[in-house]
Parts: sequence; structure tokens; C-alpha cells
Amino acid sequence: MTDTAVRAGAAAGALPAHPLDPATAGEYLAGRQIMAAAGLLAEPVRFAYYGLEEPPKDEVLGAKATDRRLRAFLINLDTGESTDAVVSLGQRRVIGARRVDPPADGQLPITDTDFATVDEIVHADPGWRAAMARRGLADVSVIRTCPITAGAFGPAGDDRRRMVRVLAFVQAREHDLAWAHPVDGVAAYVDLIEKKVFKIVDEFELPVPAESGDYDDPAVRGPYRGTLRPIEITQPEGPSFTLEGNLLRWQDWSMRVGFDAREGLTLHQISLRSGGRERPVIYRASVPEMVVPYGDPRFRYWQTYFDTGEYLVGKWANSLELGCDCLGEIRYLDATVTDDSGHPRVIPNAICVHEEDFGILWKHTDIFNGSAQSRRQRRLVVSFFTTVGNYDYGFYWYFYLDGTIECEIKMTGVVFTAAHPGGDDPHSAEIAPGLGAPVHQHLFSARLDMTVDGLANAVEEVDFTGLPIGPDNPYGNAIVQRATRLTRESQAARRADASRGRTWRVISTEHTNRFGRPVGFTLCPEAAPPLLADPAAPVSARAGFAASHLWVTRYDPAQRYPAGDFVNQHPGGAGLPAFVAGDRNLDGADIVLWHTFGPVHFPRPEDWPVMPVTRCGFTLRPAGFFDRNPTLDVPPPSPRCRHA
Ligand code: CO
Repeated sequence: MTDTAVRAGAAAGALPAHPLDPATAGEYLAGRQIMAAAGLLAEPVRFAYYGLEEPPKDEVLGAKATDRRLRAFLINLDTGESTDAVVSLGQRRVIGARRVDPPADGQLPITDTDFATVDEIVHADPGWRAAMARRGLADVSVIRTCPITAGAFGPAGDDRRRMVRVLAFVQAREHDLAWAHPVDGVAAYVDLIEKKVFKIVDEFELPVPAESGDYDDPAVRGPYRGTLRPIEITQPEGPSFTLEGNLLRWQDWSMRVGFDAREGLTLHQISLRSGGRERPVIYRASVPEMVVPYGDPRFRYWQTYFDTGEYLVGKWANSLELGCDCLGEIRYLDATVTDDSGHPRVIPNAICVHEEDFGILWKHTDIFNGSAQSRRQRRLVVSFFTTVGNYDYGFYWYFYLDGTIECEIKMTGVVFTAAHPGGDDPHSAEIAPGLGAPVHQHLFSARLDMTVDGLANAVEEVDFTGLPIGPDNPYGNAIVQRATRLTRESQAARRADASRGRTWRVISTEHTNRFGRPVGFTLCPEAAPPLLADPAAPVSARAGFAASHLWVTRYDPAQRYPAGDFVNQHPGGAGLPAFVAGDRNLDGADIVLWHTFGPVHFPRPEDWPVMPVTRCGFTLRPAGFFDRNPTLDVPPPSPRCRHA
């Protein structure tokens, strides 16, 4: 155990202030003890996931959530026996231990131990060494192995095995960027239980690209530019938000900040104070899955990452540095996850909370009364960054003065590379001489457990359309807004449509505004393509959620993950397509919105050797939630700004 873990364990006594607060180090240790006493942790059993089992919503809202529960995915590294266990800390016993049976149930996520052992196994394998030697790479100490989750390709594949497929990269010098030097055409398939390479796929040879990608090397980047003068962000009176434990309040907003090894940042009980009332908007918001399907049908056809369900984005969260990752008046929250043995590991400064100026909020110069007014927009930012292999992802949630909520993913890091065959290749871009980057999608799924002014909500799809010339529209200029109520789950798997400006409005079926219309919030999508793989492709079954931009389900505390609980090597059909199979009624119900978003990435030369951030996301805007602009009471930024 590390010093940090020991210190965290010593603080075990304190009970969390709120049932949705993240699990503490002491709780992880207590849960571990209970599981050990129940015989669940015999060697060599490891934790593939360990986190808080949140109480159901009705217990939290009814202040009846008195127990703390933890969920653990346990795997025996020698037999593969897999268990999904739930432990009650209050009752001090294991209250659930379900076997997970691959291949039908899928496999537990990849563990840290898997990563470490795969590297040893591959380096020791004679067949792989021979394949490297044939390529002139006799010294395998310079070769880095990259284990990639295997996917599922039916009985003809190797689906009964818990396995990864391993690609290789050359890193000749300590600071060299290995991704610049892929050894293409050869992959080692590793059985993680037998702990051996069971197949070498050696299809073709292409030269290992030679040009350095070490972006920190002056020979690659050139001298630093000397023309950037400092920008300093100061808030001499401190920020305008408060953090009491995990309760975050800023202006009219309040929310609870959570963190999970699988999902990363989670936000709970997001509400807005207006008219002297605390008005709920979202009970829980997170991005509980993302899939990166690659579009090269050849040698690497199997390359698809479910970064959240297979690798757990939360546990790879970065420790953020003030002045580097974040500027200004920052408040950080640590995150506590665990290692493979279930011991706590604190990630210091994992969550960044700060406030930003965001330009103009509203402005008007009146031509009749001469008044010239402007107000500045601000936003509260809650974020974390994670590194999953070659990519780095920032998950940012913004809350604005006017009630807008925005989720933004920042994608950066290094593109996944291959050797480029030269000429025009439809499936891969040449980004450096002889270096290719295969086309892929990044498809995120946000889970938005909506509570717009209470639990009784409904969803409308809102399209704009022009009307044809007719007796009521003689000049053909008519525009109408068409709202279609999505009343059942079968109806509510929808695609975005930019040509109609399509949005989805979540309304209360109990509360109205001063116009007698339901109060609501509108989900505004970016309308990038959904999953482009053929509907019959194995990945389409596994990432069924990504075929639609919107899903609406009736709240069920067991339905948390859009591609199902056990994503790794799962044959498909789990998650959202299964959730909606019961075709439950959504109208006036407690509903959850699921939104798929993210770009198609055909890499550009400018994405190499490290990508400038690309953004994707969505916004949720109040739509009749307020009776008028809720920011008239925002004062001018300085007395100088108040004219006439
Ligand atoms: Co990309």
C-alpha cells in the first residue's frame, strides 16, 4: 500500500455527509474486509471495478437512504471466474454476488495487472520475436506493446477466451514518441487467463515510419515562439461559488459533485433557485460510455475501444496542475479510486472547479431611449481530464447565468497510428511520411436523468419546417414549429436532423409558466453522424446505443450503462436496445434522456504529432422554465458601463 493509501485508510471513521457522496478510502477498505471475510478475495482475485452502488432515487429523495453500498467486479486471474458483488457497509455483509459468464455476459474490464502481464507475455513469445526479427527488429527491448480490447466476432472468433489483441510500436530513445513508429501488419493475440500468445497474425510488412514525433524535442518543434505575453486571471475577492464537501453552489445553481472509477465525473441533484424555490433540473448527469470504432476493414478491423466500459475512464484521471491545466482561482477536489487489489488510491486534484468570464451575456443600445447596456456572461466550470492510451479526453460541464447547461468533451493527445501504404487510402490519412492514422468515430453517450421541476416529465421532438404556398400562405414564407410528443420508448430512439433544426424538449407535466405552458429544458444536439458501421456489423450490436442520437427510457436504477454493464467482449444487444425492449410509457413519467454525440475523425496533418483540442458536446437550454430573461438582475460589470 502506498503512503497516500495508508493515510486515506486512517481517515476511515468519517461517514459521508450525503448518500450520493463518492465512496471514501475508509469505505473501500471496509468493503474489502467484508468481501475477504466472505471468501470472495482468495488469491489471485482482483478488482476490475470498485465503486459506490448509489441508492435508488426514491430512497435519496425520501431521505431513506441510510445504507452505504459498494459494487465490485471481481476476477480470478487464473481461472477467469468473474463475480459482480454488492456489499452493504451498514449490514456488514455481501448482499449480492452474481456470476458473470462469458462469452454471453461479456468480460469484466481490463485490469492494471492485465496491462502489465501482457507486455511480459508478448516480449517473451518466440513467435512474436520471430515476426519482429523478420522486420529487422532483433532488439525487442525498444518495442512497446499496446494491448487493445478484442471486441466480439462470433463463434468463429476467439470469443470464449478473455483476451486482448496487441500491436507494437518502436521507441528507440527514452523520450521518443512510440506512436510515430508503428510496426504494422503483425498482431499478437493474448489469452489473459492462459497468459500466453495463442495466435500471431502476420499479414503484411510495411516499413516502420522513421520521422520523429517527439513534440517536446527542439529538433522537432523548433525554438519556442517568444511573442506570447502573460495572461493572468485574478479574482481578488475570491470566486463566487462555494464548496461545502461535495455540495457546489454558484449563483442560482446547486449540485453535488461525484466521481466514479468507471464514469469519471458525475453530477447529482442539479437545481436552480428561482422565485424563492429550489427547482430541480437533472437528478444525475454523466457520460457513462464512449466508443471509438475504427473504420479500416483490413488487418485492424477489430479495433474498437469502449473507453469507459472496457478501460474505465475515471481511474485514469489526471492530477491537474494549477497554472498549467487550469488558470485563475481554482478549487480542486481529489478523487478516490482503488487499485486492482481494492486498496484506495487518491488522485489529487482530479476535479477542477472554477468560474470563467464568457463574454457578452446581453447587450443593447436603444435607438429610441438612448440606453446603452451590456452585461457579462459567466460560467461555472466543473471538469476532469483522463488519459486512455494514446488519447486524452477532457470532460467539461458548464453552468451559465441564464440557466444554460453545456457538456463539452475536449479531445487531444495522439491519434492512433499505422503504417501508411502510400497514395490515396480511403481508410487512413497520411499524417507524416509513411505514417497513417485510420479514420474513426468518437461516440459519447450522456445519461441525463431529468427532473425538470419534479419527476413527472415528458419529451417532445421539436422540428422547424417551412410551409408550401397555399390559401393561408400565399407568399410561401410561413415557418412553423412542430412538436411531436415521444410517449413510448419504442418511439423515442431518434436521430438529429440539422435540416429541421431538430431539438428535444423535456417538459414538466405538472408545472406551467405564466403562459400556462409546461416548463421545460431543451436538448440541442450537434447533429454529427451516428455510428457509421453497417447495421449488421458486430460493432453495431455492441454499440447499439450509437445508432441513435436520442433515447428516452423510464428511470430504472439498474439501467446505468448505454452498452450494458459488461462491455468488454460482449457479443452485443445489451444496454439501450435492451432497456427499451419493454416499450414503457414515457408520458408524465420519471424519465432518463440518453444522448449520443461526437465527431467522425479523418485525421489531418495538423493532428500530428499531438492534436490541438477538438470539441464536441451538447447544450441544455431552459425553454419556458423561466417567465422571462432570468439575468436582468445581473449588475453591470463596472459603474462605467452604465450609460443613460
Ligand atoms: Co480521433
